[in-house]
Amino acid sequence: HGTSKINDKGHLEIGGVDTIQLANEYGTPLYVYDVALIRERARSFKESFEKMGVKAQVAYASKAFSSVAMFQLIEEEGLSLDVVSGGELYTAIASGFPASRIHLHGNNKSRAELKMALDHGVGCIVVDNFYEIELIEEISKDTAGSKVPVLLRVTPGVEAHTHDYITTGQEDSKFGFGLLNGQVEQAIDSVLKSKSIHLLGIHCHIGSQIFDTAGFVLAAERVFEKIKEWKERFSFTPEVVNLGGGFGIRYTEEDEPLPATFYVEKIVDAVKTQVSEMGISMPEIWIEPGRSLVGDAGTTLYTIGSQKTVPNIRQYVAIDGGMSDNIRPALYQAKYEAVLANRVTEKHDKPVSIAGKCCESGDMLIWDLPLPEVKPDDILAVFCTGAYGYSMANNYNRIPRPAVVFVENGESQLVVKRESFEDLIVNDLPLKSKVTK
Ligand code: LLP
Repeated sequence: HGTSKINDKGHLEIGGVDTIQLANEYGTPLYVYDVALIRERARSFKESFEKMGVKAQVAYASKAFSSVAMFQLIEEEGLSLDVVSGGELYTAIASGFPASRIHLHGNNKSRAELKMALDHGVGCIVVDNFYEIELIEEISKDTAGSKVPVLLRVTPGVEAHTHDYITTGQEDSKFGFGLLNGQVEQAIDSVLKSKSIHLLGIHCHIGSQIFDTAGFVLAAERVFEKIKEWKERFSFTPEVVNLGGGFGIRYTEEDEPLPATFYVEKIVDAVKTQVSEMGISMPEIWIEPGRSLVGDAGTTLYTIGSQKTVPNIRQYVAIDGGMSDNIRPALYQAKYEAVLANRVTEKHDKPVSIAGKCCESGDMLIWDLPLPEVKPDDILAVFCTGAYGYSMANNYNRIPRPAVVFVENGESQLVVKRESFEDLIVNDLPLKSKVTK
């Protein structure tokens, strides 16, 4: 998929660059991003809104993978940016991302984070709870500037998970104002009375790695049923309705995602129907895809090391990374596909289980992966690691985080340096008695 192909050496090539050459040049484990594929995904979201004649913002949910270069790429493609912490916001500002297209999320934003966002003039704050309304009032009361634009995050009682969604009457989630229990009306009331906050609209997010459109449609319908009531009760109709992210991608053959355009069409159709029934003007529709923009654009390269055979049971093949660079299999039993990047054309028909190098039995990346007969120093390419891979990487066992490269049009570019051992102790301080003058 994307720009991946097999070159005449029988090596996996991405973005016109031989992955074996990448492994030699930058070392492994290495995150490789197919930039052309990210651009294609970004454009297809934007274009599908344009085709339907709807004003929209597509905000990249940066938690999926954030770095200065990544944010610059998102800015080049004209998308907006969803950040959820001071750190993501700092990275965005440092990358030169226009603050007016940044949306700040989070269920426990600190005073400092809110102040930072307001000082930079972010496009909106997605308000999660009553305490946050108080904090924004408190922080903005001395600034004479314009009102703070906010979306209120609601929990619509729709929870989508892959092919299913469940609806719960009394939604139980740490995020947002209850849509069905009167909380959101209380929030709307206090925000509409506020001198320092402008109620731009409503936000909801129903889950992640969703394949079906029904959950999105139902959430939109529930929100618009309420909008009808709010119009009567508060004379309020939202300028923006943000329906979150969560569009699924194909990790393995079991996954059957729809093209981005399908989700957008269904969502927009549902909103258009509601809007015309109510006789209100069409709000801007915002979405926040993370995984579907970067997930399948990322591939991780590992070097194969030791092996262990458990007679008659299984063969373990160890790689030079694991749950320190990709915690998803350990955390969510996430499944991945992979090939031997240096021998892609050989028959992949001997199932082995790929073990990480962390001191933990649960550090298994892929069970029963068919590969050719493997040797030390072979390069394993694990696909679809672009979302929540590097961003959830950690230093367990004091393993340095890997490097990240972008590839496009036959060229590679280092965008995140590999951590060094020195980096690992940069914040460590010696025991008092060992400090010498
Ligand atoms: N908007 C909000 C409010 C969210 O909470 C999320 C994801 C997104 C957008 C983006 O969702 P996406 O399009 O990427 O599915 N670490 C987990 C995923 C956690 C998702 C959290 N929120 C994983 O590795 O699967």
